[in-house]
Amino acid sequence: MDKIHTEPEDNIAVDPTTHLTTVYGDDWQSETTSIGSSLYRGLEENGRRYQTLSRKEYLVPSDQKQFETYEAGHLVALVMDSDHENPLFRAPVQNPKHILDLGTGSGNWAIDVADMFPTASVRGVDLFPPPVSWMPPNCILEVDNIAEDWTWNEPQDLIHMRIMIGSFDDTEWKRVYEQCYNNLRPGGWIEQLEASPYIECDDDSLPADNILRTWGPALSACGKRAGRPLETIDMMQDAFKEAGFVDICEKEYKWPIGPWARHQKYKEAGTVNYQHWMSGMEGWAMWLLCKYGAPAPWAQEEVIVYVAKLRAELKNPRYHIYERARRVWARKPFPEEIEAKERAKRRVPIKVEE
Ligand SMILES: C[S@@+](CC[C@H](N)C(=O)[O-])C[C@H]1O[C@@H](n2cnc3c(N)ncnc32)[C@H](O)[C@@H]1O
Repeated sequence: MDKIHTEPEDNIAVDPTTHLTTVYGDDWQSETTSIGSSLYRGLEENGRRYQTLSRKEYLVPSDQKQFETYEAGHLVALVMDSDHENPLFRAPVQNPKHILDLGTGSGNWAIDVADMFPTASVRGVDLFPPPVSWMPPNCILEVDNIAEDWTWNEPQDLIHMRIMIGSFDDTEWKRVYEQCYNNLRPGGWIEQLEASPYIECDDDSLPADNILRTWGPALSACGKRAGRPLETIDMMQDAFKEAGFVDICEKEYKWPIGPWARHQKYKEAGTVNYQHWMSGMEGWAMWLLCKYGAPAPWAQEEVIVYVAKLRAELKNPRYHIYERARRVWARKPFPEEIEAKERAKRRVPIKVEE
């Protein structure tokens, strides 16, 4: 199969009649379960809770506020693919038996996939215990560090990752993809959906000096200083190829932020994505800026003030802003394909006598 590449739709048409107060409600809270183990207690820092399973810090908090952000992110991804029969993934997996979701967060994707494929066993893995009290019987949510050696035995039909931006340094990413390859059955699929940290705008509606334009560069620079590049969205394709995957396909998206788009799908996605950003920004920024902020690490209060200013600007429905997102999926080749490729590589060109 040739490499498939799908561009995002051209510039998203703007709805001139949108007013923010009519589309955003206040009921964005949900309940949590409290469990007393040290793993659940995590580490409290700068007003947020972080995982303690891995000695290497993970940059985003694992707390109720962030789990709400994951729910919103899940919804944005679903709405953006709502015109697809399966909005959860694109890999053409037939009758899957084993599916793995790496960095499952609140387990929302794993649970939905388990519902969709009741005969498959779906495993979601995360550093922090997902805050879930009920899940389908064919779904397992477990706590583990995927940067270490994996111990699962079943060959997987599909391994999925979403919004793992900033989780690893380059060496760890390479190892994660190698382990994905080794844990898939021949013909099995890997799929990853990532979003860019930059807030973008295709027209002049967002002024050049607007504070929203500082967000992407500021966080990206922190990621670089932390040794965890935030450009995951742009490295997946090459990383899949390097790990040995074939039939690499991709779909690019523009996820609107705010309800400014005319088309109903984009308006809904943008409305939920606004909530995603409003609840997510502090958690995305706190660790990065407090540890790696410029010109010196920031204080918690500085981050809170910065995020408050960003939030105030995000409320402006006149800004036609969005973030880029990209879904990439690819197949592990069968042994015969690998042999044929090796043979082709070794083939000595036949010399033709004149
Ligand atoms: C931004 S969240 C995305 C969650 C989920 N995939 C989603 O799309 O809603 C990234 C998740 O990856 C998890 N994570 C990061 N590094 C990990 C590691 N080394 N092992 C397991 N999980 C990890 C984090 O704890 C976090 O829950």
